[in-house]
Amino acid sequence: MFITLEGPDGSGKTSQIKPLAEFLREQGYSVITTCEPGGTFISDQVRDVLKNLKNKSMHPRTEILLFCAARAQLVEEIIRPHLAQGEIVISDRYADSTLAYQGYGHGYDLDFLKNLLDFATGGLWPDLTLYLDIDVEEGLNRRRVGGGEWNRLDDYALSFHRRVRCGYLEMAQNNPTRWQILDACQSPHEVQDALRKAILKKLPGETLHT
Ligand code: TYD
Repeated sequence: MFITLEGPDGSGKTSQIKPLAEFLREQGYSVITTCEPGGTFISDQVRDVLKNLKNKSMHPRTEILLFCAARAQLVEEIIRPHLAQGEIVISDRYADSTLAYQGYGHGYDLDFLKNLLDFATGGLWPDLTLYLDIDVEEGLNRRRVGGGEWNRLDDYALSFHRRVRCGYLEMAQNNPTRWQILDACQSPHEVQDALRKAILKKLPGETLHT
């Protein structure tokens, strides 16, 4: 099963992944986690280029291709081999981030981006996408005060981040079979609980025991 966590900046996805993976391992599942952009030797080098504050002049088209390049390598080197072994793969961000940020955020054509993403991933889309929803200003503020790494991409205007959030909500509402919307303003414990429940509900033959 391929699970992705998505959300606007500061939604707290990253701190939820480790306890989530540990919980699933305690239930007897084999789990690996990945984080985008990055996750392989090559993808990590692309990540450095994307996040470098000196690369302010990067054109959004360059950005799209770099995100896709990093993802293509991650899919082939890590995600597909682990899925083929029957493991659960949980990725902190994936192709839907490109649709949200580069599509809804920067206004690039969504159908074109979907084709590009199909090319980059070889058509691999998640079985379940958990979307942590948060007010944009609150999310960015959490990152500023929470000591999270501030990067070139956080520097985009507030209106950009608002479009990203609306895009996520639209995608989630359009495909409720794959997407689950979770409230990221709850306590971290409550968010963790909601994530676990959403996954267990989706795993074949699982009974709920959280
Ligand atoms: P990161 O510090 O990993 O942020 P987060 O902890 O919020 O995931 O930086 C990733 C940034 O890159 C984040 O602002 C979202 C953005 N992004 C895109 O714009 N497009 C993409 O395809 C991906 C994967 C990320």
